[in-house]
Amino acid sequence: MNFSIKNICCIGAGYVGGPSMSVIALNNPSIKVNVVDLNIKRIDEWNDNNLDKLPIYEPGLKEIIKLCRNKNLFFKTSVEESIAEADMIFICVNTPTKIKGIGAGQASDLIWVEASARQIAKHARSNVIVIEKSTIPVKTALTIKTILNCSDTESNLNEKRFYVLSNPEFLSEGTAINDLKNPDRILIGGDDEKSIEALEDIYKTWVPKKKIIRTNLWSSELSKLTANAFLAQRVSSINSISALCESTGANVDEVAKAIGSDSRINPKFLKTGPGFGGSCFKKDILNLVYLCNFYGLQEVALYWQNVLDLNYWQTKRISKIIVNKLFGTITEKKIGILGFSFKADTNDTRESPSITICQDLIEEGAILKIYDPKVSIYQIESDLKLKEKGNNSSKTNSWEFHQNLYDTAHESDAIIVLTEWEEFSNIDWVRISSLMRKPSWVFDTRRIIDRDKAMESGLKTWIIGQG
Ligand code: UDX
Ligand code: UDX
Repeated sequence: MNFSIKNICCIGAGYVGGPSMSVIALNNPSIKVNVVDLNIKRIDEWNDNNLDKLPIYEPGLKEIIKLCRNKNLFFKTSVEESIAEADMIFICVNTPTKIKGIGAGQASDLIWVEASARQIAKHARSNVIVIEKSTIPVKTALTIKTILNCSDTESNLNEKRFYVLSNPEFLSEGTAINDLKNPDRILIGGDDEKSIEALEDIYKTWVPKKKIIRTNLWSSELSKLTANAFLAQRVSSINSISALCESTGANVDEVAKAIGSDSRINPKFLKTGPGFGGSCFKKDILNLVYLCNFYGLQEVALYWQNVLDLNYWQTKRISKIIVNKLFGTITEKKIGILGFSFKADTNDTRESPSITICQDLIEEGAILKIYDPKVSIYQIESDLKLKEKGNNSSKTNSWEFHQNLYDTAHESDAIIVLTEWEEFSNIDWVRISSLMRKPSWVFDTRRIIDRDKAMESGLKTWIIGQG
């Protein structure tokens, strides 16, 4: 069957669906792209005239939205209608870790993927290409195919035909637009030649053909989980060495440079930090662990579980170091927190190590003064499960929100750098020092500050991965 793609529908207007479809629309002006979501507020934000109010912050995104929105890119809540119009449907809904039932705490919850498949079975026309973009366990395409071709849905009555492909997204938040515009590779898994060609044609408008990799469905699904597991493993590896550097007097950046110059190792993803966060790494490794156990591969499961355990240990050890350095107690002490997102250049806080570290410090009795250039007070309240001091009539709570980094230093005993925002590399430490209570500490978990300047200003410093 030959396809002529004129109309794309993407279910899920999140961190993956929104930017991915924006770049597809930008490069395929003759194709109408509808991005749909159940969440009305999210869609309203995508449609806001003020482009600074888009629901996600990504460098370069608002420029594309300005060019394409309401021309060939539309953000809508009319899911059924958009499915009915589409020749190609991307599933970009969330696949969180299950919180109850079989596989709770490890397996991915496919409730939204299944719901999307059922909606497609019911409302799509015939000969539609359905594409899994959400990260999902291996063999999910089988579930989707089964639902689409199930005899108790209207699909069979109307003799609809569906072609299921896997096309995982490898974008990294904060550089999503650049990653989408210049991908290392596009991975397409499937068994129907014509539908694969139709998807390839969309990417070929801006991606060189040699970067498009074809595999079978299961290899494609498993490659996404494996890619994230390998990346996370590198971060855990360098984080394990950071602790050894602190104990021995070695410098983790020097070690990373020395080993990264070996072309077999390469220099990327060797930056130590407070532990990896983000929506994918933990969830995907948990899922991998679950799959390995399911297939009776306990040793393999344990191997990957250790990557997660090391990550948790790295985050927790930072809280302990802070308490120890501040004379073993931080009760009633003010501590400035610089950065709350899980990495720079995003407002996303999912699985951010800042959440765990802030919770630990609050538990120890500290009063936190938090600043992040892009994360809102409401998001921090939701993550910490605590109202901000000014928003709480009882005033018993333990953290304040600040609009600039210097305010966090006022009467603080310590400043903790938790996210590598560019502005934290250019801090006026003389000014900071003059505002803080003595002795004053700065803890840098991202190795981004100018340590010499901080020390010259009278601050005591602790830098991760350095004796
Ligand atoms: C999601 C998955 O979490 C991840 O596993 C995958 O790799 C890519 O897609 P992300 O885009 O970051 O990642 O998720 P999120 O920002 O939560 O967006 C998902 C959107 O789907 C939400 O806006 C949600 O409202 C929407 N959704 C969910 C639907 O529109 N319909 C549904 O049935 C379920
Ligand atoms: C990741 C994958 O990179 C991407 O391909 C996939 O599609 C989704 O998951 P993302 O989570 O957005 O992307 O960000 P990434 O840059 O991978 O960082 C993940 C976490 O690892 C962050 O907390 C980051 O600070 C940390 N990290 C990354 C390090 O601590 N050191 C590094 O060298 C790299």
